[in-house]
Amino acid sequence: MGDLCSLSISISISTFLILLLVFPVLSTQQQPEEEDNPVINRFQTYLRFKTAHPNPNYTVPVSFLISQARSIGLHTRTLEFVPGKPVLIVTWPGSRPDLPSILFNSHLDSVPAEPDKWIHPPFSGVRTADGRIYGRGAQDDKCIGMQYLEAIRNLRELWGYKEPTRTVHLSYVPEEEIGGLDGAAKFVASKEFEELNVGFVMDEGQASPNDDFRVFYADRSPWHVTIKATGVPGHGCRMFDDSAMENLMISIELITQFRDSQFNLVKRGLAAHSQVISVNPVFFDAGILTSNGFAMNMQPSEASAGFDIRLPPTVDPELIRNRIAHEWAPASRNMTFQYQLLVALVIKTKLLSCCTEASILLLKGKELTVIMLMCSCQHVLLPGKEELVTLELKFLENYLQSLSLRFLIRTSAPTL
Ligand SMILES: *[C@@H]1O[C@H](CO)[C@@H](O)[C@H](O)[C@H]1NC(C)=O
Ligand SMILES: *[C@@H]1O[C@H](CO)[C@@H](O)[C@H](O)[C@H]1NC(C)=O
Repeated sequence: MGDLCSLSISISISTFLILLLVFPVLSTQQQPEEEDNPVINRFQTYLRFKTAHPNPNYTVPVSFLISQARSIGLHTRTLEFVPGKPVLIVTWPGSRPDLPSILFNSHLDSVPAEPDKWIHPPFSGVRTADGRIYGRGAQDDKCIGMQYLEAIRNLRELWGYKEPTRTVHLSYVPEEEIGGLDGAAKFVASKEFEELNVGFVMDEGQASPNDDFRVFYADRSPWHVTIKATGVPGHGCRMFDDSAMENLMISIELITQFRDSQFNLVKRGLAAHSQVISVNPVFFDAGILTSNGFAMNMQPSEASAGFDIRLPPTVDPELIRNRIAHEWAPASRNMTFQYQLLVALVIKTKLLSCCTEASILLLKGKELTVIMLMCSCQHVLLPGKEELVTLELKFLENYLQSLSLRFLIRTSAPTL
């Protein structure tokens, strides 16, 4: 898995994220929030197609997507490996068809909806006054599928990009929610897929509960964790319980044990460095300063330590968060903690509860680089519950997507 992530991609992603941070203001200028905004209207139309399981009808949404793609001058092609389960490929030909192409994937289908549990009917695509757009598939995965098209529309119409260097394909696949066997799996195994000569794939990610724009790819995620202990201060001549240093030292012992357990796997040849959770102390901070050093007869009331922790993509960040909260910096030991998750890098593989087509695409082997882009939404999807996106975020994403396309085409592509 680590092999999937070349250095050029890591650099690209950080530059890409920086680029994203610079521009969001423009989106609101260029895309005023109007009720009759055509971008929103197109999204609402896509939401109204009944593509939820158990009986998704793909015919009408595929026709809609084809008409959208053609309206911005893109080529379309429908493959039907299983009758009634089309795979739509939209293509923006590049000036260098000899180079590996870029594929942006999304799925057509959605999970079932229970209408009586919704404030607004799940296939109404209702937009409320506060900018929320309700619909089954709003997050997973129709916002992504539409944003690819809107991004290309923006690139062509607002930014004046007539032709990317590499050919860009969008794929709209059926049956993702039931494992993708009749959709992405057949597609990826086909000679048609081979002919696309794909070198880079971007797939859906997971809904984000806030405005963070998260990119997931096959690498470890760096966490910078600071733990801080407070405790009873006292003279250095007396032994007593619950000093800050003691509280911190208990944590350091536990962290050291954990570190050893991980490092031993590497030392015994059972795992690669990239496959374990690495934990490295980077600072200790305690003591009462004097003019020539530290007071040697005082036990301080505060002590802290910092750690650089790296999580492999297969580890659920929640597990480590719980370990920090309950073992390494528990409130019961008068401890607090802070962490900075530099980039959320969790690759969704079959090890995790939800799966995307990325896992199918990843089976394709090392020649493919797969990135999962997060859908930035205010509400994390809960099956059976309502699903919505907000207007503002939709716009932001829309804009970010357009930048990502622009970026990939201009900067990253030549290094792939
Ligand atoms: C899908 O819906 C269209 C339009 O309502 C209909 O013509 C078509 O027969 C349906 N297809 C399937 C497979 O149900
Ligand atoms: C936590 O702090 C409180 C208040 O200072 C103190 O009474 C208690 O003993 C401390 N407990 C530990 C485990 O440090």
